[in-house]
Amino acid sequence: MATPVMDKAEAVAKSQASPYITVTFRIRRFNPEVSDAAVWEDFQIEIDPKERVLDGLHKIKWDVDGTLTFRRSCAHGICGSDAMRINGKNRLACKTLIKDINPEKPITVEAIKGLTVLKDLVVDMEPFFQAYRDVMPFLVTKGNEPTRERLQSAEDRERFDDTTKCILCAACTSSCPVFWNDGQYFGPAAIVNAHRFIFDSRDEAGEQRLEILNDKDGVWRCRTTFNCTDACPRGIEVTKAIQEVKRALITRRF
Ligand code: SF4
Ligand code: F3S
Ligand code: FES
Repeated sequence: MATPVMDKAEAVAKSQASPYITVTFRIRRFNPEVSDAAVWEDFQIEIDPKERVLDGLHKIKWDVDGTLTFRRSCAHGICGSDAMRINGKNRLACKTLIKDINPEKPITVEAIKGLTVLKDLVVDMEPFFQAYRDVMPFLVTKGNEPTRERLQSAEDRERFDDTTKCILCAACTSSCPVFWNDGQYFGPAAIVNAHRFIFDSRDEAGEQRLEILNDKDGVWRCRTTFNCTDACPRGIEVTKAIQEVKRALITRRF
């Protein structure tokens, strides 16, 4: 039977054991100045599984290959700049823990789909932001400036609460098979941001936004596949918001 002294020694040894494991990052690299084709490249790093995929990418960039290119800013799930395909699923690298994605196998990391890859994990976001701008993502009111804040009941605020959470990461739009097809579809993120204002009782441009989304590339192209809802790192019920916009278009009630 182990003595109390042995137990303590074991506990100390255990607490001093390195938390690091060896993980393979398999990254889809693309550099238009070198080749027209993308290639997969493996990197082996030592990392604590409690760290995030973004930490792994930093280790590679800072210690192994400074040419690795990706976007990130806040590192805390707020700025929306590091959406990428990790093990075939759109996620934020800064919100994905290594331990949660089976580090015993190579972790595949590639750019999000449906947008032109500029370099490695960086895509051209302009078509995405153009669709966002097209739905007028700002409050529109008529008349004179009020002398006090525009009041709104808690119930009215609740109607668009979910869609205020969007961080414009594009995980939804770039996981949508309709968007992959031709990139002309407005995409779920633009519709989510239209929803945020259409259902805001203080806004007066709901009709205008609905007409914009009544376009051949608007909400009717959604096939309710739910990829967008599954991909959203903010947990927004994206497909539900799209359905609400469709219903508002039919009933003209919003
Ligand atoms: Fe990202 Fe979700 Fe906004 Fe889509 S709805 S852009 S997935 S935060
Ligand atoms: Fe695409 Fe989402 Fe509709 S994935 S088809 S926008 S439900
Ligand atoms: Fe800002 Fe991930 S770096 S959301």
